[in-house]
Formats: sequence, structure tokens, C-alpha cells
Amino acid sequence: MSKIVVTRRIPKQALELLKENGEVFLWDREEEPIPHEVLLEEIKEAAGVFTNVGDRIDKELFDHAPNLKVVSTMAVGYDNIDVREAAKRGIAVGHTPGILTETTADLTFALLMATARRVVEGSDYVRQGRWKSWGPMLLTGQDIFGATIGIIGMGRIGEGVARRASGFNMNILYHNRSRRREIEESLNAAYSTLEELLSKSDFVVLLAPGNTQTRHIIGKEELKLMKPSSVFINASRGTNVDERALYEALKNEEIWAAGLDVFEEEPVSAEHPLLTLPNVTVLPHIGSASIATRTKMAVTAAQNLVAGIMGKELPFQVKINEN
Ligand code: GLV
Ligand code: GLV
Repeated sequence: MSKIVVTRRIPKQALELLKENGEVFLWDREEEPIPHEVLLEEIKEAAGVFTNVGDRIDKELFDHAPNLKVVSTMAVGYDNIDVREAAKRGIAVGHTPGILTETTADLTFALLMATARRVVEGSDYVRQGRWKSWGPMLLTGQDIFGATIGIIGMGRIGEGVARRASGFNMNILYHNRSRRREIEESLNAAYSTLEELLSKSDFVVLLAPGNTQTRHIIGKEELKLMKPSSVFINASRGTNVDERALYEALKNEEIWAAGLDVFEEEPVSAEHPLLTLPNVTVLPHIGSASIATRTKMAVTAAQNLVAGIMGKELPFQVKINEN
């Protein structure tokens, strides 16, 4: 039987599928990542590796894995995997697009609303016993209904967020590599240059994939274009934002607030500069984290992996020329 390395505890439906098809090494921890030396040792004989956004799957790992046929990530994004190097070596890469679209759009909208209306700050305020009386301007935030939202990256998740925004009667602007005319019609979304989107939006929502073209797509210059009342949301990849520039913009009140589900380096510690600011709402990269969706993602990733060790086309294979 082929050896399969699983780098984290996964839902049992997915694990059972893998066990029926190979000899599984499981790093059976809920939150603690597999130490790199353990991974390099276990990967030696492996035909497949079941991974997640927290593992770095690079040339060094491939050098240790002469029998590796497939890398399967339980995620839509695969910026943690050197896909070109995998392609050169004939290693298939699988991911889980489509499945997590609505769940991630829900979380993105939740983060937008929580940040605009200071939901987490308000909750802390009550829990800390600071609530002494009703105050006319206590914890006042920004309106969402009828505001302008600018979505950077109109992929499946961007479109899901646009649909939700449309229910809130928002004006929708978007910026994307290619125009999406069907969305312009169905959701009344207006294609904009990045500059125009930044200067007009009350909410700037970043949903572009993480790659070399999108690295620091939001930096000092872009933040300067945003309104002082604007709210910035990132539910894509931390590397898409220059965090130092974001920190400065928030601290100097060049923008009003930010809601972040992702960071340049994850996990972040409680001492991270952005966490010292009251106008930042943070989450630990949980965009796709509903019970049903995470279970489906794990099963799909297991199906990709099983196909890969059998030398078949994966149900959801990353096509290298798409990058
Ligand atoms: C999570 O961030 C994913 O890419 O699925
Ligand atoms: C991911 O599913 C995206 O295309 O946004």
C-alpha cells in the first residue's frame, strides 16, 4: 500500500477514505503543526501528502520525497505550495475550489459588519464591566446599508460577497484581472480601476488570490487613496497587504478601521503591532470554517489524494498555467 502523510488531524470521513487506500501516517494534533523535521522524515517513502495552508511544501520537501505523486491541500489557495516545482517533477497538486465559496463569503461579510459596527469592541466593553450608561455616541460605527463596497478580486468568493452586498442595497464596485460582464448585469456591479475603487469605496474588501502579482497590492499609496471613513477587510491572503503600511494608515487615522482574517506571517502573536490598535478586528484565518464546509473540504482533498496516488487526474487539480 502507498504511504500517505497527513499533516494534521482531519475529519474522520476523510481519514477513513485515506486509510482504505493507503498506509496513513497521521500527525494527530488539532492545532499544533507537524515539526518540519518529522515531515521531512515521514515524507521519504510517501506517495501522497494531505496538507493545509499552514505547511510549506517546497523544493526541499520534494527533494526528500522521491516517490511523491500528489500534494493535496484542504484549501482553495495554494500559495504555500511550490506548484511550478511540483509540475517539473510530475507531482499533481489538488485543492478544493467551489466548496468553500459561500462559507467564506459569509465570514467576509460577518467581518465587514463586525468591523463597521464595532461588535467585538462592544462585546469586550460589556464583559469588562465598563458599561455604565447609555451614551449618545457610545461605540458609534459606520453604516453598511446603502454604502459603497469595492471588491478587489471578483472570483467565486468576491461574487458571493457582492450578492450579499446587493441585499444590503450597497453600490458595488469591483476590480479584477478580467471584467465579469455577467456580474455587472446581474448584480449591478461597476468595473473600476483600482485607484477609482479605493477612492470611492466606504468598504474595501480584498479577495484576490495570493501570488507574486498580488503581493502588497494594498500598500502605502493605495491606503492613501482610501477615505478617512473607510473600512478595509482582508479575507484573502496576508501577503496581499503591506502590514506596516496598514498599521501606519490605521494609527494615523488615514482609514477608519480594518477587519483581518489573514496575516503576512501566521499565526500572529498578541504582541503584533496591528493588535495594539483598537480599530482592528482580527480572526485566526477561519474564512471557510463551518463544520459542514470543513468536512466537505477534507473529503474532497482526500478524494484528490486518492486519485493522485492511483495516477489518475484529480477531481480538482491545480493547473499550473492558471497561475
Ligand atoms: C483558505 O484560506 C483557503 O485557501 O482555502
Ligand atoms: C475562490 O473560490 C475564488 O475564486 O474566489
